[in-house]
Amino acid sequence: MDSELLNKVTWKIPNALALIGSGSGEEWNGMTASWVTQLSMEPVLIGVGVDNKAVTHRLISQSGSFSVNLWPSDDTRVFVKFSKPAVKEEGSLNGRPVHQGVTGAPIFDESLAWLDCEVRQSMDLGTHTLFIGEVVAAGVNDDDKRAAAMSDTKMKYGGVKRGGH
Ligand SMILES: Cc1cc2nc3c(=O)[nH]c(=O)nc-3n(C[C@H](O)[C@H](O)[C@H](O)COP(=O)(O)O)c2cc1C
Repeated sequence: MDSELLNKVTWKIPNALALIGSGSGEEWNGMTASWVTQLSMEPVLIGVGVDNKAVTHRLISQSGSFSVNLWPSDDTRVFVKFSKPAVKEEGSLNGRPVHQGVTGAPIFDESLAWLDCEVRQSMDLGTHTLFIGEVVAAGVNDDDKRAAAMSDTKMKYGGVKRGGH
């Protein structure tokens, strides 16, 4: 298959864009992610595809939990900062306030809505692992704004593996 064509087509998939919260002990992280989707209704399962080399991969593997934080579509700058490991300070990640959910994963106070998930299955698929989590808690902070999608930004993710992956 032609790589350029694969990139072109996979980048057209209209993905969501969210922050994945993860934490193990004192270490917390937030990660920009577009590979996020619901996978079952009973139980309610959410799948996230996480790079095997990501800090987030290690933290989810260690803790068995993650949060999905949907973000207002008018504040997409946040996704740039969270595309590298986040800086943790007292009660914040990259300056964005967080609190711990019931699973222990950090949840962003400024998110539009959030899901707190306990990992039920994980599948190493190659470059990425599919973590499948059951929703154990959820919340809405702003029911009026629209949640951000990949198409609200000029950013792209996916396609074929490039150098430095
Ligand atoms: C728009 C965008 C979408 C992304 N989506 C994902 C994703 O779904 N899964 C993933 O593993 N990394 C994704 N990334 C890359 C991570 O945000 C980035 O590699 C991150 O630094 C790795 O996570 P870490 O901080 O846990 O090491 C995306 C990056 C951008 C800019």
